[in-house]
Order: sequence, then C-alpha cells, then structure tokens
Amino acid sequence: MATILAIETSCDETAAAVVCQRQVLSSVVASQIDLHRRYGGVVPELASREHLLTVGDTVDEALKQSQRDWSDIDAVATTCAPGLVGALLVGMSVGKTLSMVHHKPFLGVHHLEGHICAAYLEETSLQPPFLCLLVSGGHTSLIRADSCGQYKVLGKTRDDAAGEAFDKVARLLDLGYPGGPIIDRLSQQGDPNAFKLPEGNISLPEGGYHPYDASFSGLKTAVLRLIEQLKTDGIEPLPVADIAASFQHAVVKALVKRAIRCAQDQGLTTVVLGGGVAANSSLRHTLTQTAAAHRINVYIPSFKFCTDNAAMIACAASEHFDQGHVSNLNLGVYSRLPLENVSELYYA
Ligand code: KG4
Ligand code: ZN
Repeated sequence: MATILAIETSCDETAAAVVCQRQVLSSVVASQIDLHRRYGGVVPELASREHLLTVGDTVDEALKQSQRDWSDIDAVATTCAPGLVGALLVGMSVGKTLSMVHHKPFLGVHHLEGHICAAYLEETSLQPPFLCLLVSGGHTSLIRADSCGQYKVLGKTRDDAAGEAFDKVARLLDLGYPGGPIIDRLSQQGDPNAFKLPEGNISLPEGGYHPYDASFSGLKTAVLRLIEQLKTDGIEPLPVADIAASFQHAVVKALVKRAIRCAQDQGLTTVVLGGGVAANSSLRHTLTQTAAAHRINVYIPSFKFCTDNAAMIACAASEHFDQGHVSNLNLGVYSRLPLENVSELYYA
C-alpha cells in the first residue's frame, strides 16, 4: 500500500496532501483568492511568488496532519502540467528536492488526471471505464477514461472554459471574483427561465451540430447584449439574480445534455464529474437527476475535492505508482499537455 505525498501549485492554490491507497490522510490548501481578487483574475507572477512563500509550511502541515513521517512516505508527486509555468516550477522544484533529500521516487502528475482521480477519493472501489465531465476555470472536456493513464478527449469547449464563462459573466454583473460560487448562490434567488440564452452549439459544415463540443464565449456575449438591452430599456436596477440564474441554466443544460449523450453513444454507464465547476449546485443536481432517468451512475466528489487540491494529485500518482510508473528527475513543466500524452511523464 503506497503512501504518496503530493504538491499542487498549478494555478492559485498552494496545496499539499498525503494519500494512501485512495484514503486521504491529510489535505491542506492555502488559497490565494484574496490576493488575486482585486485584479479580477489570477496574476501569474504574484501566484508564483505566493507559492514560494507558502509551499514549505503547506507541505509541513500536510505531513503533520497525516500523522506520518518521511519514513512512511513511498513517493513524492507534483503537478507538472498543464498550468501557469512559473507557478508549476515552484511546486516541481520543491517536490524534486524533497524526493532527492529523502531518497524517494518522484512522479510528475497531469493536473487534469488529478481532477479525474478525485472521484476515487470517496468512491474507493470505482474503476474505469467511465466518462468524466471535467469542468474547471481552464478546461471543459468530456473524457473517456479506460484505465490509469489511458484517456480520450471526446468533446471540449472551442473557446472559453465553463468556469471562465462564470468568472467573466460575474465580472459583467460586477459581482466579484471568482464568479462561479457567487453566481451559484445568487441563482438560487433568480428565475432560470427569465431570459433565453444560447447553449453554445457548434454548427458543422455538413449541417447540424457537433454532439459534444461547445462554445461558451458566445453565451458570455449574449449576456453582455442582454445587459445592454435592459439598460437601454431603462430597467434599473438590473434583475441580476434572474440574469445569473438564466446564464447558469444555459451552461448546465449545455454540459449535462452533452455528457449524457456522449455516455450513451460510448456505451458507458458511469459519469464522473470533476473540476472547480463541479462544485456548482445546479450542475450537481441536474446531472444526478438526468443521469438517473437514463440509468447512468454519477459520482461527484465533495466540494473540497472538486476545486484544486493535492489529494487528487496524490491519488493520480498512486494509481501510476501501483503500475510501477515513476518520472525522471529531469522532467520539465508544461503549460499545455494533451491528456492523451500522460504516459510520456513516466517510465516503468
Ligand atoms: O478546478 P479549479 O479549482 O481551478 C482550475 O484548474 O481552473 O476551478 C476554478 C473554477 C473557477 O472558474 C470558479 O469560478 C469555478 O471553478 N467554480 C464554480 C463554482 N465554484 C468554483 N463555478 C460554478 N459554480 C460554483 N459553485
Ligand atoms: Zn483545476
């Protein structure tokens, strides 16, 4: 039973965790949200600098809370892609150094494989194949998982990620950052059918729509036009809760429709939800209800494992470590790396 210590610094959370065979022994997350809020988004250089200040204490705290010491740790893992390069470099330098100092094998981890594996932390017997609807601030994808490291991206956003759309629409409505949780809360007081907004269909040259790909930048523009129209019509104050609820309804409908169709087409009976937007209450509820009607099982991690954390990174590393996979210490960081190329991070 391998015990893995993992570090995650790909964006704006400094995280460390200790996981043993899908059991979380500790998971510590130091969020930088307050630092970036005044800029309305993540400022890469500030993120790197903050990771540098916080990472040492975060790792110490994770080890302490796990009630393990270095002699119990079998390997060190760190997110190496995709993400902000400066931010990834901080975690990777610390992870590699710890692995050398403590003579432990090292594993670089693909951040999205971490989000996929988050489902294992609470459904410890879950096994592929399944479909993962991965919705975060940087990614929106439908991924077929066939085994550890074997993934196929079947659908994706052609422009903005779903989380990015939440954050941009929140900015249009002057709601603050990050927009997802605020729109989620506000939507509970609004009418989701107040305004009809597009569901991000992608037209195909031969006619019809792409079954799984989506576009969310057009939806953001439609919200902008709606706000302008309401202002021109002298509607003040703006019906912010109705706009938020209508926007959320369009995103959720678009995501759930595609996920269910994709699972059916692929003959998959399990859908796993992952990424920060998986914290959205309407998405969780609608996906669960719709899947049940189609006899599809849904696994949704609890909130703390949906948003960025290191337990999911340790879990992904542990799946690889069990297969005998480890990384070379000359592994670099990558701002982008297709999920299909995960196996290139390891040698057996
Ligand atoms: O996975 P994540 O923590 O970081 C990335 O890897 O991107 O996702 C962050 C994204 C942000 O865009 C945030 O607005 C969104 O997840 N988010 C939500 C909710 N909570 C976080 N979106 C919708 N509803 C939520 N409750
Ligand atoms: Zn993420």
